[in-house]
Amino acid sequence: MFDIKKKFPDGFLWGGATAANQLEGAWDKGGKGPSIADTLPGGKERFAIANSQKFDWKLDSKEYTYPNHRGIDYYYRFKEDIKLFAEMGFKCYRFSIAWSRIFPQGDEEIPNEAGLRFYDRLIDECLKYDIEPVITISHYELPLNLAKSYGGWKNRDLIKFYERFAHVVLERYHSKVRYWMTFNEINSAFHFPVMSQGLVPSSGANDFTNIVQSWHNQFVASALAVKIGHELDEHLQIGCMILYATSYAYDANPINQYANLKQMQDFNFFCADVQVRGKYPQTTARMLKEHDVDPTALEITDKDLELITQNTVDYIGFSYYMSRVTDVTSEHGEGVSGNLIGGVANPFLKSSDWGWQIDPKGLQIALNELYDRYQKPLFIVENGLGAKDIVEKDGAIHDDYRIGYLKQHIEAMRGAIADGVNLMGYTPWGCIDLVSASTGEMSKRYGFIYVDLDDEGKGTLDRSRKDSFYWYKKVIESNGEEL
Ligand code: BG6
Repeated sequence: MFDIKKKFPDGFLWGGATAANQLEGAWDKGGKGPSIADTLPGGKERFAIANSQKFDWKLDSKEYTYPNHRGIDYYYRFKEDIKLFAEMGFKCYRFSIAWSRIFPQGDEEIPNEAGLRFYDRLIDECLKYDIEPVITISHYELPLNLAKSYGGWKNRDLIKFYERFAHVVLERYHSKVRYWMTFNEINSAFHFPVMSQGLVPSSGANDFTNIVQSWHNQFVASALAVKIGHELDEHLQIGCMILYATSYAYDANPINQYANLKQMQDFNFFCADVQVRGKYPQTTARMLKEHDVDPTALEITDKDLELITQNTVDYIGFSYYMSRVTDVTSEHGEGVSGNLIGGVANPFLKSSDWGWQIDPKGLQIALNELYDRYQKPLFIVENGLGAKDIVEKDGAIHDDYRIGYLKQHIEAMRGAIADGVNLMGYTPWGCIDLVSASTGEMSKRYGFIYVDLDDEGKGTLDRSRKDSFYWYKKVIESNGEEL
């Protein structure tokens, strides 16, 4: 009865993850409308530019490049790429449906049939190889018109547009696709509201009231998608998706411990609490007060709350790249340069070339924390190392650093399973090199498959297998035994 589980369960979902805006390209083909991602320039300043007062959603300018326009040309090459996923033995493949391929402006009544036909073909291609599709309905790719003309997610109208979009794709694909997620990294608006809520300074991104209102609207929209999905088929598995970063207090100083507790409650748990437990956590009032949000300024109806309560998610999808450290006593004050979500440097950890602190044990902790709290199946739908790769003269790519990173994280997963955690699957991020979300670079590579394309958009776009490709194939073949 109390046997320790030493192995990954049978049917464990090994695979990989991508998002439409970061790889499809063909940004204005097949009737697709522009999305917010199509306005983001390439380069490390991407977020700083989007967060500046001057930013005005341009799709073209002499000053910048727009790498998401071309992605890695996947729209035209997906068959070749899925064949490579199949060669690695993928059991599942997580991807998103570009909202503006289906509703080019976001507010139309009738979907764009050409866009749907693309995903018909993509899904059928996965099924041809027995790869289970895992779909993110919305992954940082809001139709641009909904950001420009409606002001992003703070506007309640977006609930009905999302509902329409979710209805169309769930209805069309529910018989072929069992696993869904409603919003990618919904909590990430704490740090980059432009991506997850379509909010920039000119539409109120600097006012936390707008961020909270956007979250509420997204919670309602997410609950509606869960409702639609379960009405179509009660067996559909519809999850939330959060950006999880294990957070440590810098030291045993109770002041830091308490600040860290609040960091956990707000960043890691607030959104998941609503989507998993079906109600706002008791910490909400405190969090709003600390961000100067007047609760009476929020539009939240009883009907909304009922919908949220009645339509909770089936599993918890989350991304895990790094941990963070809280120190409010300012004695160790240096931030981690590039660590996406801030914090001070952890002296026990190394960082990636982009400054993200690498912490496999933190993943084991995350899995325990999430399972302790929610008792729902967990799905790691993003994890990986963004790194520069070198192509040898013979074409080989010896990415032992990536193998090392993934291996340690898979060991941590095995540890968490032995701790009693119910883990459904693992889809490392960017299983094929794609455009980085935070920097728009190609040189920040995560893939098992190399794509010949550089930061200036030059290259043949040819695909090739890295050492990690062969390694991951063995991991899957042995169900995680051979690392
Ligand atoms: C997650 C996103 O935050 O991290 C992905 O869901 C993103 O879209 C991934 O690509 C890695 O981040 P980056 O900035 O290295 O691409």
